[in-house]
Amino acid sequence: MTAHKVCPWWLGYFLASPLRRLLQNPEKIIAPYLQPGMRVLEPGPGMGFFTIPAARLVGDKGRVFAVDVQPKMLRELQHRAEKAGLGSRIETRLVESESMPLADLAASIDFALVFAVAHEVPDVLNFFKQISATLKPGANILFVEPAGHVSENAFSEEVAAAGNAGLRHVASPDVRGHSALLQKMVREEFATGKSR
Ligand SMILES: C[S@@+](CC[C@H](N)C(=O)[O-])C[C@H]1O[C@@H](n2cnc3c(N)ncnc32)[C@H](O)[C@@H]1O
Repeated sequence: MTAHKVCPWWLGYFLASPLRRLLQNPEKIIAPYLQPGMRVLEPGPGMGFFTIPAARLVGDKGRVFAVDVQPKMLRELQHRAEKAGLGSRIETRLVESESMPLADLAASIDFALVFAVAHEVPDVLNFFKQISATLKPGANILFVEPAGHVSENAFSEEVAAAGNAGLRHVASPDVRGHSALLQKMVREEFATGKSR
Protein backbone atom coordinates (compact mmCIF):
# COMPACT_ATOMS: atom_id res chain seq x y z
CA MET A 1 0.00 0.00 0.00
CA THR A 2 1.27 3.46 -0.74
CA ALA A 3 0.34 6.55 1.25
CA HIS A 4 -0.39 9.80 -0.53
CA LYS A 5 0.40 12.00 2.42
CA VAL A 6 2.79 14.79 1.59
CA CYS A 7 5.95 14.90 3.71
CA PRO A 8 5.58 17.72 6.31
CA TRP A 9 7.67 20.79 5.45
CA TRP A 10 9.68 20.66 8.68
CA LEU A 11 10.94 17.19 7.75
CA GLY A 12 12.63 18.94 4.84
CA TYR A 13 15.33 20.17 7.25
CA PHE A 14 16.18 16.58 8.26
CA LEU A 15 16.15 15.36 4.66
CA ALA A 16 18.58 18.10 3.62
CA SER A 17 20.78 17.71 6.70
CA PRO A 18 24.47 16.85 6.29
CA LEU A 19 23.87 13.83 8.56
CA ARG A 20 21.95 12.15 5.74
CA ARG A 21 25.22 12.00 3.81
CA LEU A 22 26.27 9.19 6.15
CA LEU A 23 23.60 7.05 4.45
CA GLN A 24 23.34 8.61 1.00
CA ASN A 25 26.01 10.57 -0.85
CA PRO A 26 24.05 12.78 -3.26
CA GLU A 27 26.98 13.51 -5.61
CA LYS A 28 27.83 9.80 -5.89
CA ILE A 29 24.20 8.89 -6.59
CA ILE A 30 23.57 11.43 -9.38
CA ALA A 31 27.01 12.10 -10.87
CA PRO A 32 26.90 9.09 -13.25
CA TYR A 33 23.96 10.70 -15.09
CA LEU A 34 25.03 14.33 -15.21
CA GLN A 35 27.34 16.34 -17.44
CA PRO A 36 28.07 20.06 -17.71
CA GLY A 37 25.39 21.92 -19.64
CA MET A 38 22.58 19.46 -18.91
CA ARG A 39 19.01 20.46 -18.10
CA VAL A 40 17.63 18.57 -15.12
CA LEU A 41 14.08 18.23 -13.78
CA GLU A 42 13.57 17.39 -10.12
CA PRO A 43 9.96 16.99 -8.98
CA GLY A 44 9.73 16.93 -5.17
CA PRO A 45 13.17 18.37 -4.34
CA GLY A 46 12.33 19.16 -0.71
CA MET A 47 14.99 21.57 0.56
CA GLY A 48 17.53 20.57 -2.03
CA PHE A 49 19.61 17.63 -0.76
CA PHE A 50 20.10 16.58 -4.42
CA THR A 51 19.27 19.89 -6.14
CA ILE A 52 22.36 21.76 -4.98
CA PRO A 53 24.84 19.01 -5.92
CA ALA A 54 23.01 18.67 -9.27
CA ALA A 55 23.42 22.41 -9.91
CA ARG A 56 27.16 22.08 -9.22
CA LEU A 57 27.49 19.10 -11.56
CA VAL A 58 25.69 20.72 -14.52
CA GLY A 59 27.95 23.78 -14.31
CA ASP A 60 27.20 27.37 -15.22
CA LYS A 61 25.62 26.46 -18.57
CA GLY A 62 23.29 23.89 -17.04
CA ARG A 63 19.96 24.38 -15.29
CA VAL A 64 17.95 22.52 -12.66
CA PHE A 65 14.16 22.88 -12.55
CA ALA A 66 12.96 22.04 -9.04
CA VAL A 67 9.18 21.72 -8.71
CA ASP A 68 7.37 21.12 -5.44
CA VAL A 69 3.89 21.45 -3.95
CA GLN A 70 5.13 23.14 -0.76
CA PRO A 71 6.24 26.80 -0.82
CA LYS A 72 8.26 26.36 2.39
CA MET A 73 10.39 23.65 0.76
CA LEU A 74 11.07 25.86 -2.24
CA ARG A 75 11.82 28.97 -0.16
CA GLU A 76 14.44 27.13 1.89
CA LEU A 77 15.86 25.48 -1.24
CA GLN A 78 16.25 28.90 -2.88
CA HIS A 79 17.90 30.26 0.27
CA ARG A 80 20.41 27.39 0.33
CA ALA A 81 21.08 27.74 -3.40
CA GLU A 82 21.81 31.48 -3.05
CA LYS A 83 24.10 30.78 -0.10
CA ALA A 84 26.01 28.24 -2.19
CA GLY A 85 26.30 30.74 -5.08
CA LEU A 86 24.15 28.51 -7.29
CA GLY A 87 20.89 30.47 -7.35
CA SER A 88 21.15 31.33 -11.04
CA ARG A 89 21.35 27.64 -12.05
CA ILE A 90 18.19 26.59 -10.19
CA GLU A 91 14.63 27.52 -11.13
CA THR A 92 11.98 26.66 -8.55
CA ARG A 93 8.31 26.24 -9.41
CA LEU A 94 5.35 25.78 -7.12
CA VAL A 95 3.02 23.13 -8.58
CA GLU A 96 -0.33 21.51 -7.80
CA SER A 97 -0.18 17.89 -6.66
CA GLU A 98 -2.07 16.68 -9.77
CA SER A 99 -0.77 19.13 -12.31
CA MET A 100 2.71 20.46 -12.97
CA PRO A 101 2.95 23.45 -15.35
CA LEU A 102 5.86 22.12 -17.41
CA ALA A 103 4.64 22.63 -20.99
CA ASP A 104 7.47 25.09 -21.70
CA LEU A 105 10.00 22.33 -20.89
CA ALA A 106 8.57 19.87 -23.44
CA ALA A 107 11.23 17.49 -24.85
CA SER A 108 14.05 19.66 -23.45
CA ILE A 109 15.18 17.83 -20.29
CA ASP A 110 18.28 15.58 -20.28
CA PHE A 111 17.80 13.93 -16.91
CA ALA A 112 15.13 13.77 -14.19
CA LEU A 113 15.47 12.78 -10.56
CA VAL A 114 12.40 11.37 -8.83
CA PHE A 115 13.65 10.64 -5.33
CA ALA A 116 11.28 9.69 -2.48
CA VAL A 117 8.31 11.54 -3.98
CA ALA A 118 6.16 9.22 -6.14
CA HIS A 119 4.48 7.59 -3.11
CA GLU A 120 3.22 11.06 -2.11
CA VAL A 121 1.58 11.68 -5.47
CA PRO A 122 -2.14 10.87 -5.90
CA ASP A 123 -1.91 9.66 -9.53
CA VAL A 124 1.48 8.11 -10.36
CA LEU A 125 0.65 7.43 -14.02
CA ASN A 126 -0.32 11.06 -14.59
CA PHE A 127 2.79 12.19 -12.67
CA PHE A 128 5.11 10.12 -14.89
CA LYS A 129 3.26 11.21 -18.04
CA GLN A 130 3.93 14.86 -17.17
CA ILE A 131 7.62 14.15 -16.49
CA SER A 132 7.92 12.01 -19.63
CA ALA A 133 6.64 14.89 -21.78
CA THR A 134 9.55 17.08 -20.63
CA LEU A 135 12.26 14.54 -21.52
CA LYS A 136 14.30 14.29 -24.67
CA PRO A 137 14.03 10.83 -26.27
CA GLY A 138 16.56 8.50 -24.61
CA ALA A 139 16.86 10.72 -21.50
CA ASN A 140 17.08 8.96 -18.14
CA ILE A 141 15.15 9.22 -14.90
CA LEU A 142 16.66 7.99 -11.67
CA PHE A 143 13.63 6.80 -9.73
CA VAL A 144 14.07 5.92 -6.04
CA GLU A 145 11.56 5.18 -3.28
CA PRO A 146 12.23 4.64 0.43
CA ALA A 147 11.90 0.96 1.37
CA GLY A 148 10.43 1.96 4.76
CA HIS A 149 7.38 3.63 3.16
CA VAL A 150 6.98 1.69 -0.06
CA SER A 151 6.72 -2.11 -0.40
CA GLU A 152 8.46 -4.05 -3.16
CA ASN A 153 5.05 -4.66 -4.78
CA ALA A 154 4.03 -1.00 -4.63
CA PHE A 155 7.36 -0.04 -6.20
CA SER A 156 6.82 -2.56 -9.02
CA GLU A 157 3.39 -1.01 -9.63
CA GLU A 158 4.97 2.46 -9.82
CA VAL A 159 7.59 1.20 -12.29
CA ALA A 160 4.76 -0.37 -14.35
CA ALA A 161 2.92 2.99 -14.34
CA ALA A 162 6.13 4.65 -15.55
CA GLY A 163 6.22 2.05 -18.37
CA ASN A 164 2.71 3.11 -19.38
CA ALA A 165 3.99 6.68 -19.55
CA GLY A 166 6.66 5.67 -22.09
CA LEU A 167 9.50 5.14 -19.60
CA ARG A 168 11.34 1.83 -19.90
CA HIS A 169 13.06 0.23 -16.89
CA VAL A 170 16.67 -0.21 -18.06
CA ALA A 171 18.66 -0.83 -14.87
CA SER A 172 18.47 -1.06 -11.09
CA PRO A 173 21.27 1.14 -9.71
CA ASP A 174 22.67 0.38 -6.28
CA VAL A 175 20.95 3.08 -4.22
CA ARG A 176 19.59 2.56 -0.69
CA GLY A 177 15.82 1.86 -0.99
CA HIS A 178 14.06 0.71 -4.17
CA SER A 179 15.66 2.08 -7.30
CA ALA A 180 15.14 1.99 -11.05
CA LEU A 181 16.81 3.74 -13.92
CA LEU A 182 14.11 4.60 -16.45
CA GLN A 183 14.65 5.73 -20.01
CA LYS A 184 12.30 7.66 -22.22
CA MET A 185 11.35 5.46 -25.16
CA VAL A 186 11.40 6.94 -28.63
CA ARG A 187 7.91 7.39 -30.03
CA GLU A 188 7.99 4.34 -32.35
CA GLU A 189 9.12 1.97 -29.57
CA PHE A 190 6.34 3.17 -27.31
CA ALA A 191 3.70 2.89 -30.05
CA THR A 192 4.69 -0.69 -31.03
CA GLY A 193 5.54 -1.86 -27.50
CA LYS A 194 9.06 -2.80 -28.73
CA SER A 195 12.19 -2.37 -26.64
CA ARG A 196 15.65 -1.82 -28.02
C1 LIG B 1 10.03 12.89 1.18
S1 LIG B 1 10.32 14.46 0.44
C2 LIG B 1 11.77 14.08 -0.56
C3 LIG B 1 12.59 15.29 -0.87
C4 LIG B 1 13.82 15.03 -1.74
N1 LIG B 1 13.50 14.40 -2.99
C5 LIG B 1 14.84 14.24 -0.98
O1 LIG B 1 15.03 13.05 -1.28
O2 LIG B 1 15.44 14.82 -0.08
C6 LIG B 1 9.04 14.55 -0.81
C7 LIG B 1 8.94 15.89 -1.48
O3 LIG B 1 8.02 15.79 -2.56
C8 LIG B 1 7.13 16.89 -2.54
N2 LIG B 1 5.90 16.49 -3.24
C9 LIG B 1 4.87 15.74 -2.78
N3 LIG B 1 3.93 15.58 -3.74
C10 LIG B 1 4.38 16.23 -4.82
C11 LIG B 1 3.87 16.44 -6.16
N4 LIG B 1 2.67 15.94 -6.53
N5 LIG B 1 4.58 17.17 -7.04
C12 LIG B 1 5.78 17.70 -6.66
N6 LIG B 1 6.33 17.54 -5.43
C13 LIG B 1 5.64 16.82 -4.53
C14 LIG B 1 6.98 17.19 -1.05
O4 LIG B 1 6.51 18.50 -0.83
C15 LIG B 1 8.42 16.99 -0.58
O5 LIG B 1 9.19 18.15 -0.77
